Parts: sequence; structure tokens; C-alpha cells
Amino acid sequence: MSKSSRGLGHELLDESLQGSPTVVSSHPTHTKKLYLESYGCQMNYSDSEIVASILDEAGFATTRNSDEADLILLNTCAIRENAEQRVRSRLRQFKSAKAERPHLVVGVLGCMAERLKESLLEQEKLVDLVVGPDAYRDIPNLVKQVEGGQKAVNVLLSREETYAEISPVRLDSNGVTAFISIMRGCDNMCSFCVVPFTRGRERSRDPKSIVREAHELFEAGYREVTLLGQNVDSYKWNLDNKGQVKDPNQPVVRFAELMEKVAAVQPDLRIRFSTSHPKDMTDDVLHVMAKHENICKYIHLPVQSGNSDVLKRMNRGYTREWYMDRMAAIRRIMPKCAISTDIMTGFCGETDAEHEDTLSLMREIRYEMAYMFKYSERPKTLAERKYENDVPEETKSKRLQEIMELQRENGTARTLAMKGKTYRVLVEGTSKKRDDQFFGRNTHNAVVVFPKGDAKPGTYVNVQTLDCTPATLIGEITLEEADA
Ligand code: SAH
Ligand code: SF4
Ligand code: F3S
Repeated sequence: MSKSSRGLGHELLDESLQGSPTVVSSHPTHTKKLYLESYGCQMNYSDSEIVASILDEAGFATTRNSDEADLILLNTCAIRENAEQRVRSRLRQFKSAKAERPHLVVGVLGCMAERLKESLLEQEKLVDLVVGPDAYRDIPNLVKQVEGGQKAVNVLLSREETYAEISPVRLDSNGVTAFISIMRGCDNMCSFCVVPFTRGRERSRDPKSIVREAHELFEAGYREVTLLGQNVDSYKWNLDNKGQVKDPNQPVVRFAELMEKVAAVQPDLRIRFSTSHPKDMTDDVLHVMAKHENICKYIHLPVQSGNSDVLKRMNRGYTREWYMDRMAAIRRIMPKCAISTDIMTGFCGETDAEHEDTLSLMREIRYEMAYMFKYSERPKTLAERKYENDVPEETKSKRLQEIMELQRENGTARTLAMKGKTYRVLVEGTSKKRDDQFFGRNTHNAVVVFPKGDAKPGTYVNVQTLDCTPATLIGEITLEEADA
């Protein structure tokens, strides 16, 4: 699975990417070297590209080799406990490297910054530098402060920062697919979730800068952009949180309008987005998707649980019936749209019957793909304060196994149903398993592999699918018209 297929908060799923070092070509005048490792969701990977850009301006070239770095930064995730543990063990390794190279500066960025600043800086003395997600412009100053012999920290969250005008340095890019952050933070307060605490209030980025970035990417050869936000359906420009227009002389732009604008950049630029929120997803977004061929027919719509009482305790803002109504709207407006989801097992108080409701919802919907997790209690969240984390670990694991097994069946059936059809596929690169094959994706986000022929990465080809594994379609390039 490639980086671009991951949703927000899915840091457990792609071990090969965990802590993957990122690199860009070094600038001749740059004398210092930055080693940057990213954990967590697409948002964090996208932020790392902003950090690389800010540090590029400050004279740092990136390197893949931590041994030659002057500055090591870990962009961290706090979504589940094991995400944090992984970072801590990595930091311990760098602490020993620091003993040998005293000039080395080690810092933590991202979602662990706010909560763990004291423990990381003072108690465990694992790092010199802690910077929260809204303070990245301050990194060059903070590094100077550390070089001057002090510890440095800035974890202030902002109501305005969107890094709108910063051109991200595309790290580890395939040159074909890229992320564009359209908003930051989250105002939802789902009771299990740490993100509102780590990333602060929701704010949307200026649509002009988003469209400009999409144009620039197209000019640079990119053919797919994924618009990123924790809840893209609540994107709003020129509206305050109460829905009042801020500047009457400026247009109001909501997510549906933003998508229209990005879709209009170039018919050959594909658009994906993540994450949609069931409580906010409106039919006008679905109609815009249906209208534009270059908006991919794929929606990631996290359900979390199939039981309305559990959803209430999770403070998700919808019921099972509401979710099913949104599903019905998708099927009505785009009958072939692929759907994926996030599901959590063992949330506080979850009974066997409530778990069964999740299984029955999965049987009804038959998701193409799902990210599945065991509930992990997070400090400061509403769930931690209000509910007991009372589902035993074995029960959580058993339920997780059950939903994973069901998803395996559903996913395989979904892939099988695509077999035999011809798809327009954007070529992303050489298949990991076979040098003589390319891989790409169809509009439904299914991975398709096929012999290279004369195709090139960054172009579209029609592929007739002949065979499949549970999650991959196998085919060959054809001149026939595509079914989708
Ligand atoms: N903003 C997105 C989700 C971001 S977090 C949304 O609302 O859908 C990605 C996923 O991680 C969530 O959908 C949830 O399934 C999972 N997750 C979040 N907090 C968690 C926790 N405390 N324990 C286990 N999984 C969690
Ligand atoms: Fe977390 Fe809920 Fe916001 Fe998603 S919508 S980031 S789950 S608080
Ligand atoms: Fe993403 Fe993890 Fe933060 S999922 S928003 S990096 S807590």
C-alpha cells in the first residue's frame, strides 16, 4: 500500500512507511543536514513537507542518513498509545547517537509535542526541541536557541495558521500524486479522540492558495491531488464558526464549491479527499462528485460503530440510521462509488450486542476497505474523564479479529466484482513485486498492476482486469473504452 492510499490517523497500517526517512536533493549552498522522520497520518506527512520547506529556506538540506545529520526531527502521532511508544523507543536510539555527536540537535514535532513536552525535555531528557503543529515557522529560531545551549519549546496552537503560502517541498514523491492540506485542527470533540487537543481549533485555508497549489502541481507533472482535512465537509472560507459571513465583498466557499474549483484546474488532474464526516456530508458534495469525472468515485466515511448508543457515547453526532441514510444518498447519486471506513472495537461499555450491530452494519454496507482499531484510551479526552475503559483487552482483540475477518471477506468480494472490467488507471510507478510491471489506481482507489508496455508514470491508461488477489486487480493495457 502506498502512502497516498492511507487515510487520516491510520498510522498502524503501513509498517514499511513507519518512520520512513524523507529526502530531497541537496541545495549546493546548504551547509547543514536535516533528517526528518514522519509518523501518523497523511496530515503529518503533509506537514513534514512544510517543515522541510521552512528549513530549506534556513539553509538545511535533507538527508536519508541520520548518521550525517546536524538536526534530527521526528514528526509524531498521538492517536493511540502504541504510536507514542514507537516514537519514544526511536528517541532513545537518537539519544545514544547524541552522546557520540554532542552537536547533534534532536527534536519532536507534531501531535505528541503539547502533552509530552515536559516529560520529553525535562524528565527523560530525550530531546532538545519540542515544536507543536502550529509553530513550524519558528523552527529555525528554536534551532538557533538550542545551538546557543538552551532547550527550546513552542507548542502554541493558533486559530489562524494554515501555512497557506508556503510551497511544500515534496518529500519522497513519486511525482504523480500529492497531498494538499485544505484545513487544520478539528472542532468535533469525538470523546475518544486526541486530535482536537494536539492540533487545536478547526480553520480553513484560503481557496485561492489551494487552487494555486493544484495548478503548480499539475505544471510540475502531478496528476492526482488528495485534499486533506480531519473533516473536509466542514471546510468553510469567509464564514465564521456560527455560519456568519465574515467579509460581504468576498465569496463564501464551502467544500462542494472548493471541489468544483479544484476540479476545474485541469480535466487530467484527479481529485481525492479525506476525511469525510458522516454528520456533515451533504448531498451537494455528492452531486459535485458525480458531475466531475476527475473527482474519484471513492469516499472514506468512518463509521466507528454500528450501534447508535455507542455512537452517542463517542459523541460522533450521528446515529446508525443517519449513517445508513448518507450511504443511501451515495448509492443513489453515485451507484458505483467505492466506500471505505474506520471502525473501532471495545469502546467504553461496548456490549456483545453492540458489537454485533457493527458486524451487521458491515454486512449491509460491504465496504471496499476498512481501517480497524482497538480502542486506546487517550489522556484529556472526554472518554477518559467520563467513561471507564472497561472492555477487557482479550475482548477487544477478539472483536477486532471478527471485524477483520468479515472485512477480509467483503473486501475480497468487492475486488472480485471489479474483475473483468476495464478501468482508466493513473500510472504511479513500478510495482514493488515485479520490475516489468506498473501499478496504479482506478477511480475507486483499487490498486491495479499490469505489464509496463509503452506506458509512463503520470499518464493514464485503460487496463482490462483479468485476475485479482484479495486487494489487487491484475490486468493488461487495452485500447478498449473504460467502464469507469
Ligand atoms: N477525522 C477523522 C479521523 C481521524 S483519526 C474522522 O473523524 O473520521 C483516524 C481514526 O483513528 C479514527 O477514525 C478512529 O477510528 C481511530 N482512532 C481515533 N482515536 C482513537 C483511539 N483513541 N483509539 C483507537 N482508535 C482511534
Ligand atoms: Fe478526532 Fe472526531 Fe475530529 Fe476525527 S472528527 S479528528 S475522530 S475529533
Ligand atoms: Fe494524525 Fe496522529 Fe496527529 S493521526 S492528526 S498525526 S495524532
